[in-house]
Amino acid sequence: MSKPKALATRPLFPAAREILDRNFDVEYWPVQDKIPRAELLQRVAEKDALLCLLTEKIDSELLVAAPKLRIVSTVSVGYDHIDVPACTRRNVMVTNTPGVLDETTADLAWALLMAVARRVVEGDAWIRSGTWPGWELDQLLGGDVYGKTLGVVGFGRIGRGVARRALGFQMRVLYFNRTRVAEQTEKELHAEFVGLDRLLRESDFVTLHVPLSAETRHLISADAFEKMKRTAYLINTARGPVVDEAALARALEEKKLAGAALDVYESEPKVYPALLSRRDVILVPHIGSASVETRTKMAVMAATNAAEFFAGRRPPNALNADVLHS
Ligand code: NAP
Ligand code: GLV
Repeated sequence: MSKPKALATRPLFPAAREILDRNFDVEYWPVQDKIPRAELLQRVAEKDALLCLLTEKIDSELLVAAPKLRIVSTVSVGYDHIDVPACTRRNVMVTNTPGVLDETTADLAWALLMAVARRVVEGDAWIRSGTWPGWELDQLLGGDVYGKTLGVVGFGRIGRGVARRALGFQMRVLYFNRTRVAEQTEKELHAEFVGLDRLLRESDFVTLHVPLSAETRHLISADAFEKMKRTAYLINTARGPVVDEAALARALEEKKLAGAALDVYESEPKVYPALLSRRDVILVPHIGSASVETRTKMAVMAATNAAEFFAGRRPPNALNADVLHS
């Protein structure tokens, strides 16, 4: 019997290819660069499965172009790039890669938090410029991390991982979430459930971990910066549009907060121009989950989701399991 046909929008990694090649007749986009939209629409046309990344928009246009498609398996936990209801309407299963990237992404949030508070990137640039005159009492003074208040917005897998790391820094942890977590989890993480207003007013570090949705788009905007402490820092490793970048740039200019560290942007790969020249901002290129181990696990997980589906089983990370019953 012939194997189902799959399109993978990147070459992926050997461990994931091994699973895909065993189960599918696979066409791989041959380079580690974004597949042009026209190529994607053309190559997906006769495919049964699509393995994609978060940079590819999976919308009605693509679904119409791919009438045989049965599954979209994204190599990411976030799925705001996929119109899941449109997939469900066309009986297309959608899967993602939750869990395997939590610790790696929480590590990056902490790397950004520490770096922005202690001005690590500015220090590095100064040394490399050859103009550092040697130790002085008032050089590159930042903010303390130890013993401060951490505000976690979105207390899911990654948000809780970030809070767990704060235990070692003896921090007070406030969290804002759609639903309150179990009392036992709050106790273990020394975390207090508060409204967003209070979190913004009392936190020294505000770290974002909500998915992008209609409710979370521009959750952090001009109004939020009015509430934050002037000495506070914002860290965003969630999704760019959760923050109004223009409002952030204005707030930094007006010294309404002390700094920001961003991994994600409103219109990736573009960055709001006024942020690029600011010394109180650290910018990294959406590398939250970018460790060798974690990216490999994500690709394997995405390949497994697709293979399980075509083996007639429920994929481990189905986002619209109702498709199986229709
Ligand atoms: P998760 O476990 O689903 O956690 C998300 C949390 O946000 C949940 O606790 C959820 O509350 C809460 N939430 C959702 N909508 C909310 C709202 N309107 N107001 C308040 N809280 C809300 O997801 P995760 O695995 O931690 O990932 C979170 C996001 O991080 C992903 O969606 C992705 O966009 C981003 N991410 C980025 C990177 C990177 O490379 N920078 C890597 C991984 C993930 P409930 O529990 O009540 O639903
Ligand atoms: C990365 O941003 C992800 O959603 O996996």
